[in-house]
Amino acid sequence: MKVDVLLGLQWGDEGKGKVVDVLTPRYDVVARFQGGPNAGHTLEFEGQKYVLRSIPSGIFQGDKVNIIGNGVVLDPALFKAEAEALEASGHPLKERLHISKKAHLILPTHRILDAAYEAAKGASKVGTTGKGIGPTYTDKVSRNGLRVGDILNNFETKYAAAKARHEQILKSLNYEYDITELEKQWMEGIEYLRQFNLVDSEHEINNLLKEGKSVLCEGAQGTMLDVDFGSYPFVTSSNTICAGACTGLGLGPNKIGEVYGIMKAYCTRVGSGPFPTELFDETGKKIRDLGHEYGAVTGRERRCGWIDLVALRYSIMVNGVTQLILMKSDVLDGFETIKACVAYKVNGEEIDYFPYDINEGVEPVYVEMPGWKTDMTKMTSEDEFPEEFNAYISFLEEQLGTPIKIVSVGPDRAQTIERYTEE
Ligand code: GDP
Ligand code: IMO
Ligand code: MG
Repeated sequence: MKVDVLLGLQWGDEGKGKVVDVLTPRYDVVARFQGGPNAGHTLEFEGQKYVLRSIPSGIFQGDKVNIIGNGVVLDPALFKAEAEALEASGHPLKERLHISKKAHLILPTHRILDAAYEAAKGASKVGTTGKGIGPTYTDKVSRNGLRVGDILNNFETKYAAAKARHEQILKSLNYEYDITELEKQWMEGIEYLRQFNLVDSEHEINNLLKEGKSVLCEGAQGTMLDVDFGSYPFVTSSNTICAGACTGLGLGPNKIGEVYGIMKAYCTRVGSGPFPTELFDETGKKIRDLGHEYGAVTGRERRCGWIDLVALRYSIMVNGVTQLILMKSDVLDGFETIKACVAYKVNGEEIDYFPYDINEGVEPVYVEMPGWKTDMTKMTSEDEFPEEFNAYISFLEEQLGTPIKIVSVGPDRAQTIERYTEE
């Protein structure tokens, strides 16, 4: 068997959590491969709303095994809060959630360092989620990190050494902080973590595939936030692209099957950094209000703009996307016309490829199409799609060279429409 991978093609918050939950019944296992509590994946069903940060979005469907892979960075305190809230709401997970011993631990001092580095950057700050993501991945790559497996052996000494190293850096930055409460909760989180199945997830996942089990890998963030291919330096610190599923779970590239690329019918971004199609006018505000575009974790206002097909073509390329999932088209249900960016103008010259740097001087070239002006939120089949909407998705498919297989018309699990396939 191969694994299928679902990942974001824009700047995150495309609706990954919702679709992973919808697809989970088709799989035996769901696995997260990168990122950490910077993610906020929202699911809605039976009138309830849940936001997941570190726990995979397959946790609500039956008895499916969910894996937190080695590529993930885990904050034990936040993990404890998230897992306890889920258990309290009637979703037991201790037996079903397996955590890689090779996943790196976010220390309290990593969170403080995140804040300190952002403060030092001043106006050029990244606008991180403040969860210690960058410093934790930095320690991983510089071979100073602590891993989940470390809690099983001589942990106090290793923790003290890492903390002392961080304290030196914070001292050199003249950054004032109080670690007491943070550290107390963190230590409680470490004890809590010991109750879970701490596994060698690379063995587990490859064995499951050998046994014929099916696996869905869940991405966090989005391709435009990828540390290599995103809008650097305004990115996260992991590989959010499909290759991240190989390194973040221990899978060979030949184990990748379908790659689901997920995108909104418009575009959003949280934090700083370039965003060529950003709207600063009433239309941008309208999209934000209708789409409830506020951070699932931080509550921060998301910046809104038109769909960017230049960036999407690039994302599809670097991920090897085989099928697209279109989200939140219902937000545009009432619009007279809808715009899509098909090219960029750079120094007066029109280009249709994603350039090295989009930090400045990039002007979007738009195509404007008639809106469908129909409430699509209660539709259940593509037979009901209005003509203008069909024209819009055909246009997107042609521009992106990839079929749109699923259309999401609302936040609920049930508001998901599969399109016919010609196989
Ligand atoms: P993720 O990080 O990719 O999982 O996405 P988020 O959960 O951060 O953001 C997506 C938001 O849009 C959540 O509030 C979802 O409940 C909501 N959502 C998902 N799909 C749709 C949709 O098709 N229409 C509408 N209106 N909202 C949606
Ligand atoms: P999901 O999985 C949207 C953004 C932050 C910031 C940058 C770096 O819910 O789509 P970090 O804390 O990772 O060092 O922040 O990345 N960011 C996200 N934006 N959705 C996310 O996750 C994000 N995770 C990080 O806002 O600009
Ligand atoms: Mg999110």
